[in-house]
Amino acid sequence: MVNSRTPLIAGNWKMNGLLGDGRARAEDLAKRMQGAANPGFEMLLCPPATLIAGTAAAIEGSGLLLGGQDCHFNSGGAHTGDISAAMLADFGCSHVIVGHSERRADHGEGDDLVRAKATAAIEAGLIAIICAGETEAQRDAGKTNDVVAAQVRGSVPDGADGSQMVIAYEPVWAIGTGRTPTEAEVQDVHAMIRATLAEVTNDATAQSCRILYGGSVKPDNAAGLLALADVDGGLVGGASLAAADFWAIAAAIG
Ligand code: 13P
Repeated sequence: MVNSRTPLIAGNWKMNGLLGDGRARAEDLAKRMQGAANPGFEMLLCPPATLIAGTAAAIEGSGLLLGGQDCHFNSGGAHTGDISAAMLADFGCSHVIVGHSERRADHGEGDDLVRAKATAAIEAGLIAIICAGETEAQRDAGKTNDVVAAQVRGSVPDGADGSQMVIAYEPVWAIGTGRTPTEAEVQDVHAMIRATLAEVTNDATAQSCRILYGGSVKPDNAAGLLALADVDGGLVGGASLAAADFWAIAAAIG
């Protein structure tokens, strides 16, 4: 972690939660955030679409940030079941996740589509959290860097700067499994992503863009992962569903 980049701890609630528990979790975190004089990090909640309005009400005035888990690449129109970036912004969202591996797998999303979604997000004034990560088979074949670099090259919109996007490195095999790469492996991939960003954008963007690690981040491994030079925060799934665990992960930032 480098001081010039404010750490971002993002909770991806995925397809979990009904009105009651989502609201209780958001209220709990809002209280913790309000009680933290100088937290030294940004904390972002990305609930499912049905919980965005309730979460917005629960965190109002707390300093917590709100984000969506996906958006359409168009600004509106005949797209049944989809949500536009402008609709997310309308509810007070500042961020949206695009290209999560679960969407790449469940919905066949490829880099071109992810880039179009990130572009739509930025046009709507949102920060796009662009996800990339290798499968276990790709890792075993020694292709991690090639795969992740190609996803970053293919998914980052032309001209995007470090205030408009965040990259999340999430090895697919580490998501929800309790397994993570070693800290040295995480740092190597993050440094490679930053070098790739410098190639496809410019040095200033590469230096200012936050790169989050995601995949089985828990209170007991957070301090080591978040201290790495090119890790600027975490994208947390399972552990973001318990307010105390999620807060403990953020509090692990040294
Ligand atoms: P877990 O923290 O449950 O491994 O999920 C990570 C993730 O996919 C966040 O987007």
